[in-house]
This record gives sequence, C-alpha cells and structure tokens, in this order.
Amino acid sequence: MSVDFSLDSHDFQERPAEYFEQLRGQCPVAHADLPAPFFVVSQNADVAAVLRDSDVWKSKFGPGLAYHGGGVLVSVDPPKHTTDRLAITKIFKPSAIEEMRGDIEVLVKDVVSQFAATEGNAGDLIRGVGMPIPLTIMCWLLGTPVSDIEKFRQWVLPMAEAVSAVDGRMGDVTAQAYKSFGEYFWPHVKTRAALIESGEDAPDDLLTRLLTVERDGQKLTQEDVMGFCQFLMVAGSATTTLLIGNVMSRIIDDPALAARLIADPSLIEIAVEESLRIDAPVHGLFRTNDEPVCMQGVDIPVDSKVLALFGSANLDPNVWENPEEFSLERDPVQLRKHFAFGVGIHYCLGAPLARMEAQLAVQEMLARLPNLQSNGERQLVKAAVLKGFEVLPVKWGN
Ligand code: HEM
Repeated sequence: MSVDFSLDSHDFQERPAEYFEQLRGQCPVAHADLPAPFFVVSQNADVAAVLRDSDVWKSKFGPGLAYHGGGVLVSVDPPKHTTDRLAITKIFKPSAIEEMRGDIEVLVKDVVSQFAATEGNAGDLIRGVGMPIPLTIMCWLLGTPVSDIEKFRQWVLPMAEAVSAVDGRMGDVTAQAYKSFGEYFWPHVKTRAALIESGEDAPDDLLTRLLTVERDGQKLTQEDVMGFCQFLMVAGSATTTLLIGNVMSRIIDDPALAARLIADPSLIEIAVEESLRIDAPVHGLFRTNDEPVCMQGVDIPVDSKVLALFGSANLDPNVWENPEEFSLERDPVQLRKHFAFGVGIHYCLGAPLARMEAQLAVQEMLARLPNLQSNGERQLVKAAVLKGFEVLPVKWGN
C-alpha cells in the first residue's frame, strides 16, 4: 500500500489529519518523492523511537529536508549539541521564565488593548496579537530594538520555509530573508561583542550570555552566535505565533468552549496544551540515519532523510482516546506527553516560555474580547512543516 503524500501539497496543508490517518493505517513508514525523496514515520511509537535514539537518528544534516552540515542546536549531535544546549539552558529554565512573567503580562495587556482599539472592531488576530507578543519577547532576549519587529515579521516565516527546501533550491523570498537577517544581525552581534570587549556594562540578556559563555575555556564563535540568533528568532517566534492563532481559532469556532473558558479561566492551561496536541504547530522535522534501519518491514538506507511526524503521533488512536476531539477533560499529566515540542535530546527549550505566552494571550483575549467571531477567509502558512494561520480575520461587537 502506498499513500500519495507530498509535503508541500495544498491538500496536505488543508487536511493534514486525513493524511496522518492514512499514513499511520496504510503505510506507517512511507516513501515520499516531493519536493525530494524522503521517508515518513507517522505512528506514535515509531516517531518516539526515532527521536529517542539519537545514536542512530542524527541531526547532522539539520532538521530540514536539505543535507546541510554545520549549524547549532537542532542541526548538530552530541558532543557539540550538549555544549550548545548548556550555553542557553540557564536562560530558558522554568524559574528564569517565571521571572519574566510580570513583563510578559504587561506586554500582553498592551498588545491586546491596542488590538481591541482597532477601528471597525475587526482585524487580523495573527498580525495584531499572535505575532507581536513572541517577536517582542525575542527582541528583549536578543537585545534588538522592539521597533524593529516590523523587519523580523517579514523574515521569520520565509526563513521557516527553509526547513522543507531542497538542496540548492531555496526560494528567492527565503534566500532574501536570510540575507536581510544576516545584514541586520551581524553588525548587532559585532557591536555587542565590542562592548563586552571594552569592559563597559553590557545588557544582561541572551545575546551577552551567548557571547560570554565558556565551556572548557572555549567561547562560542561569532558564527555560532549568529546561528543561535537566527535559529531562535524563527523557533521562538513563528511557532508561538501559530500556537496563539491555533488555540484562538478553536475557541472562536466553538462558542461552548469559549463560554467554558470565560467561566473558568483555570481551564485555559489545558486548552493551550490540547491545542498543542491536536494542532501541533510543527507537523514534523527530519533526522538522518547513521546506519541502515528496517522499520515496519521497510528498509531505510543509511543517510536517508526521515520525517518524524509529531502532529501524526499526537493523533495516534493507539495512544489517544478520540484523538481528533478537542477535549478539556484529558488528564493534564498525560496530555503533556504530546510531541508538539519534540522528544528526546532536542526537546524544545522554549516550551515553558511558549506556554506562558499563549496562556496569557488567550486569557487576555477572552477577558477583553469575549464575543470574538470569525470574519472572513483564513489563510494558512505556506511553510510546509508548519501548521497554522498566516491571516486569521476576526471581529467583535460591543
Ligand atoms: C509553540 C511554540 C513552539 C513549538 C511548537 C516548538 C517546537 C519545537 C520542536 C518540535 C523542537 C524540537 C526540534 C527537533 O527535534 O529537531 C524545538 C526545539 C527547540 N526550541 Fe522550540 N518550539 C516552540 C517555541 C520555542 C520558543 C519560544 C523558544 C525560545 C525562545 C524555542 C527554542 C527552542 C530551542 C532552543 C530548541 C532546540 C533544542 C535542541 O536542539 O536541543 N522554542 N522546538
């Protein structure tokens, strides 16, 4: 049996759950040809097996479809991965994120207030709320002026599209976004490095940490620091924007769900978690096997690109009861075992931050705009491995 699966097909983007079901049921290890040859792993147990066995399933050629060597974090294996992760763990540990809560609450109130004041009581929830919250926080962390979020807004989604690009075939918009990001960020990194070098007080943020952290007497190279900035700007903002849009779209489409969350805001935490499970913002990412593997009777030759579908694992009926039902009744501890933040050594370091941003955004939206409604055609993001909206038109009354 085979399933006609193409990562960047319109049908897959419109109805991923249907494709996931077919793949899990008919072809749990599938071979796909578009936009380039790769294998797809879709059952929960197999996705977990791939992600947990980092001795066989490597990130040496990056989490995307192309075979790029080098990079940071998601593009490397231990021991470099361990060093990279240690460099930033302190910044992202839950207690450090908790310290940001007060500032994030103020930011969310400001952003939602501005959106609520939009003339005509209508606007795009992604542009008005979903994007500015995570992008502003990334500016805080990376020490860039918040007034520049307009620039980052234009770069992050095209940069995220690179994950499904094939070697030598990066689209013009994506290539231009990378170029513009580099032209902006290199001088920023160099200026900060010079400030630190001069011995003057440097801001106490993630960028200073990256430029000063040492392991075995070695500092990160400036190329690596740039790699971190590039990765974090995309990983920390585009995904959280999608999460905010995804959970709000479920609420807007289901007035009973909205009413329950308004009546009992303590349920918002579980609604965000259920959104991560059912609408994982990242459908899946790639690994490369360091040795030949036979899985589900399919031979996967050494050095193949293999897509581990987090989104499909989260809908696997072998693990989840009524997987396609958005439910607030799931056990919170079990629910957190979804794969939306990955599994294993590359598990998302930003998970506590993303959860906090989304929970506060939903809480404030429901408090300020309780009768939010859909207002016209939604536009899906074009990046093939991402799930969510680029445009989410909403309106609200008095
Ligand atoms: C809803 C929002 C988010 C989602 C769905 C998400 C998803 C993911 C996934 C699936 C991975 C695993 C990559 C792999 O296995 O190759 C990952 C890794 C990572 N994420 Fe997130 N992420 C989100 C938000 C954030 C935020 C806000 C930050 C930081 C500001 C962040 C930083 C990271 C880092 C540093 C890693 C790399 C960890 C490693 O390679 O060891 N993420 N994320």
